[in-house]
Amino acid sequence: MTLLDVMGTEDTHYARYYARKPVAIVRGRGALLYDDHGREYVDCTGAYGACIVGHAHPKVAQAISDQAKKLIACHGSTYNDARALFVSKLSTMLPSGLNRVFLGNSGAEAVECAIKIVRKSTGRRKIVAIKGAFHGKTHGALSATWDAKYRKNFEPLLPDFAHIPFDNSEAAKETITNGTAAVFVEPIQGEGGIRVPSKEWIGLLSDLIHDAGGLLVADEIQTGFGRTGKMFACEHSAVKPDILCLGKGIASGLPIGITAAAEGIMSALAVGEHTTTFGGNPVVCAAGSATIDALLEEGLVDNAAKVGEYFSTGLLGLRERRRIIREVRGLGLMLAVEMRFDVHQTILDAMNQGVLLLDAGRNVLRFLPPLCLQTDQVERVLAVLTTILEKEELAKLPS
Ligand SMILES: Cc1ncc(COP(=O)(O)O)c(C=O)c1O
Repeated sequence: MTLLDVMGTEDTHYARYYARKPVAIVRGRGALLYDDHGREYVDCTGAYGACIVGHAHPKVAQAISDQAKKLIACHGSTYNDARALFVSKLSTMLPSGLNRVFLGNSGAEAVECAIKIVRKSTGRRKIVAIKGAFHGKTHGALSATWDAKYRKNFEPLLPDFAHIPFDNSEAAKETITNGTAAVFVEPIQGEGGIRVPSKEWIGLLSDLIHDAGGLLVADEIQTGFGRTGKMFACEHSAVKPDILCLGKGIASGLPIGITAAAEGIMSALAVGEHTTTFGGNPVVCAAGSATIDALLEEGLVDNAAKVGEYFSTGLLGLRERRRIIREVRGLGLMLAVEMRFDVHQTILDAMNQGVLLLDAGRNVLRFLPPLCLQTDQVERVLAVLTTILEKEELAKLPS
């Protein structure tokens, strides 16, 4: 298919629910992607953070192929070797005490499961989430998500959700009470613009909800599995969540959501109360095991910390030279550049120069590359941004 064929065919048949870039990506390797004309791109999107060990990782591809030849479908109502191996590998990586997992098919599903667990296990209904939060777009998860543009046409959502201001201690103290079932928090807000709260505030949320007899739910769907330079972003603030929601890259791009908790909390839901046909699918689990092996063997969490530092230093240098940049923020390979203007055109210009970028709101460029990104690839990205932002600044902020 030519570029027009791919795009035209999708545009004819596929629901127009995504804001799309005019590019057809057909293959990838590591942190690089290629379009149907063979053009190469440095991938700073990582498939929205769902690619952590690199595109088409040979070990993961082999594991998927081997498993597909053996068994593709296996419902959770029978046991399966690929699933057993994956959950045992997961158990060695999860924060201590979170020794039970439920496997679903997306991040939103991981959050749905957490909502049901916290309500049933505490016998309370009230859930406190954070302004600016993103937890997914299914109805339950959407009730915890903040942005009105996702919510307003679907209200009423689930009752008894309150949103408190980000990084604000007073509001947290007023709102988290003995009636609160749980606080849901992203250790770093992703969709909300890569906003990093103070460690003290995350610690306070943990103390308040525990003193109130409720549960702390950390949504690490975007921050998890090494993205911020630690295996889980909660480690930066030494907070221990009661429930961890995970997803995105741990099966290298195959659909997955994970809800993890201690046995005593997880067992709040009885047999049959929460299941899903494809959860724990053997091919996804085989991909997950191979992804964990690659993540650990190739030292990608450390690479995210090291290359992330290099990247953010480069972006901060760019900010020194360009008034058009308001702020650089983030941790590891979860970074953002807040601009003074809309970034839509910047993203298209970067794409035309071989760099794929994400946004996070109208004026924020977001970087979620695979964790195998190398410093020479960072240099390529910085060179492209330097050229584009210089032109934009001349056009938009003439001195
Ligand atoms: C923090 C967070 N939670 C939940 C989700 C929802 O995940 P999914 O799109 O897999 O449903 C996302 C997706 O971007 C996310 O970043």
